[in-house]
Amino acid sequence: MPEFTVRTIVGSLSEKSINRKLFRALDRLAPEAGLQLVELPIKDLPLYNHDFDADYPEVATQLKNDVEAADAVLIVTPEYNRSMPAGVKNALDWASRPWGTNSFDGKPAAVIGTSPGAIGTAIAQNHVRGVLAFLAAPTLAQPEAYIQDRPGLIDDEGEIADESTRAFLVQYLTAFREHIAKTLRAER
Ligand SMILES: Cc1cc2nc3c(=O)[nH]c(=O)nc-3n(C[C@H](O)[C@H](O)[C@H](O)COP(=O)(O)O)c2cc1C
Repeated sequence: MPEFTVRTIVGSLSEKSINRKLFRALDRLAPEAGLQLVELPIKDLPLYNHDFDADYPEVATQLKNDVEAADAVLIVTPEYNRSMPAGVKNALDWASRPWGTNSFDGKPAAVIGTSPGAIGTAIAQNHVRGVLAFLAAPTLAQPEAYIQDRPGLIDDEGEIADESTRAFLVQYLTAFREHIAKTLRAER
């Protein structure tokens, strides 16, 4: 039995997303670290504006409920123009509102991502961390996980070609499980 359920935002809406492949790889490895990953869909969220606060759409209420019910949230993000994609920011904005009902408050979180570039989404992840800090979501500090993609590293089913990448991802997920346990213990 997994110890914790982790709702996971996959930040790319692309059919061919390399971040979705990374999510599939993490999903396969998660039981080794005592976690169960469940995707938190973001593609049907409208663009947030505060006129919605009086009457939240069902899809956004569901997002908030799912974040609140989860033990933790993982964000698997691409890097777009040295930041997070708009879809990721939009989901964070929806979950943070209406004012006074921030669903991320106290929620253990972690960030990871992949890109073909040498810095493997480091700047995008840094921006996500900044938002999560503002939302008071205690976020895994170490290890950082900047995965540089290359053809064949992760296949469509999430199978990883390279043993050192596989071992690193298990180590990352294990550190996340320990971070979740520590955060939830401290909050009791
Ligand atoms: C609009 C746009 C901006 C991008 N900007 C960056 C960037 O700042 N840094 C980077 O490493 N890759 C950048 N890329 C390349 C992405 O890393 C690459 O397209 C990757 O496949 C996107 O992730 P996904 O396949 O999961 O959607 C950009 C791609 C797009 C479409």
